[in-house]
Amino acid sequence: MSDPTRAITEYWDAAAPAFDDEPDHGLRQEHTRAAWSRLLRSWLPEGPADVLDVGCGTASLSLLLAEAGHRVTGVDLAPRMAERAQGKLAAAGLAGRFLVGDAADPPTGQQRYDVLLCRHLLWTLPDPGAALRAWVARLGPGGRLVLVEGRWREAGDSSVPYVAGAESLPWYGGITAEDLAAAVRPLVSGLSIEPLSGEAELWGGPVADERYALIART
Ligand SMILES: C[S@@+](CC[C@H](N)C(=O)[O-])C[C@H]1O[C@@H](n2cnc3c(N)ncnc32)[C@H](O)[C@@H]1O
Repeated sequence: MSDPTRAITEYWDAAAPAFDDEPDHGLRQEHTRAAWSRLLRSWLPEGPADVLDVGCGTASLSLLLAEAGHRVTGVDLAPRMAERAQGKLAAAGLAGRFLVGDAADPPTGQQRYDVLLCRHLLWTLPDPGAALRAWVARLGPGGRLVLVEGRWREAGDSSVPYVAGAESLPWYGGITAEDLAAAVRPLVSGLSIEPLSGEAELWGGPVADERYALIART
């Protein structure tokens, strides 16, 4: 493991125990869970789908997907995140597979997925463009790419220091919907953007920054 990867892993391992204390991570409020469930239903196919959740964290969204009957595989660099994800699904009596690995090259072999989901990960990646290409390649025919992202820097967030050198990450602080659409458009047959900043129930309160989902079809 390279030093930057080790530092990133250690950061997220340390964050894992308290990660679900954030309302949009733990989804402990019924109205927050319901709001995310509703959106996921609108973004995913109706029947059970094979979903790959990259940078899955503690399975905030994977849990809802498994509850909805989808077959979920989560990948996270941080072993403690993956452990918590697996534990949450097991505690809920739900099936799901959680792997430790790099989202930019998920350790899922040749398997193709109906949906690749990613929430709030792109800002951490050293080469997000390469990751997007790799994700599209993991989708089967008619597959969907669901990216829940945002641009947080403008909100004046003083931000807890991330790992050394993070300032040079290409999308550190997030990416606007317009810029992400420009990066994804050449890789897919079509895409739409759904603004999410105005939906306070998703985030545990009102937010002032840009948040959105990008839904693309291969
Ligand atoms: C902001 S959290 C988002 C977690 C989850 N997607 C959610 O929405 O609740 C970012 C997650 O990405 C993971 N992560 C960071 N870099 C990664 C990488 N290169 N590959 C896989 N996971 C990564 C972290 O361990 C962390 O769990």
